[in-house]
Amino acid sequence: MNKRKRLFSLICAICIFSCSCGLGKTTPSADKPIVLGFSQLGDESTWRSQNSRSIISAAEEAGIKIMFDDAMQDPENQIKAIRSFIAYKVDVIAFSPLVETGWDTVLGEAKAAGIPVIIVDRMIDTEDDSLYTCALCSDFDLEGRHAGQFLLDKYRYTEQPIKIVELAGTIDSTPAIGRYEGFRSVISSDSKFEVIFSACGDFMLSKGREIMQQVLELYDPEEIDVLYSHNDDMTFGAIEVMREAGIEPGKDIVIISVDATQRIIDYLRAGTVNCVIECNPNSGPQLMELAKKIVAGEEVEKQIYIKELVFDENSNFNKIADRGY
Ligand code: AHR
Repeated sequence: MNKRKRLFSLICAICIFSCSCGLGKTTPSADKPIVLGFSQLGDESTWRSQNSRSIISAAEEAGIKIMFDDAMQDPENQIKAIRSFIAYKVDVIAFSPLVETGWDTVLGEAKAAGIPVIIVDRMIDTEDDSLYTCALCSDFDLEGRHAGQFLLDKYRYTEQPIKIVELAGTIDSTPAIGRYEGFRSVISSDSKFEVIFSACGDFMLSKGREIMQQVLELYDPEEIDVLYSHNDDMTFGAIEVMREAGIEPGKDIVIISVDATQRIIDYLRAGTVNCVIECNPNSGPQLMELAKKIVAGEEVEKQIYIKELVFDENSNFNKIADRGY
């Protein structure tokens, strides 16, 4: 376990410990703080680590006691965590679902126990929207459409075919679905765009590397015009492989990446990538506000989208604020 992960686990342990001291309370008040059970899907990316930090620190600032569980990329672990939150009678449950399906039973149990549920970051696929109180998510379809629009604009005056390689996120996860579908809904308006290869890299740097290696075994670099990557970590892996193969990223192959970590913005400034679609990980403060309102019995919107930006090679780089992660 590296230093960063150990520090993170320690923070989680402290949060969980301080939380357990406040359990058994039924009505939150000034001396009986709200208890929030949060199931994080894992720690697969730079984005995810920042999202966890945002949630843990916002809980502390809001005076909310958090039970934080890292499911390590396994939906079964998320189900177990949610069941333990129900058993502990937390005031509110929030979770970031790894995949969209398979949640109805456990959310039915939370509903039966009278515990409100907030879906965070990714969405669930259910016929029964009474199973959650609200969803605070990114608009992943819009992110995909932004990526497509960048290509439409960039290649407006080009007539030759534009061949695209796609590094996709986790199968059945909302970001992978939205970024796949949104992108295609835009590029399909011009037949010169063709996705020649698409594979799932699970949002991980190591898999981005592996897939890019496979791609370069299948295609000559001259056959690839664009790399569209569903997150920055996979992009970092792909860039390493391109450089090892003597390919100049951002010049020989145009790169679009989603997330907007500081490192990818530095790459954008350097011309190593060409377009960055922001996916905002800093949802902690908004989540705490929602938790407080819900516990106080206030009405909240059912679906809330987090605000996100787009940066590309034509942006004014001086106006891009430090990303902070
Ligand atoms: O659900 C958000 C996505 O999940 C981010 O784009 C990615 O980096 C993370 O793993």
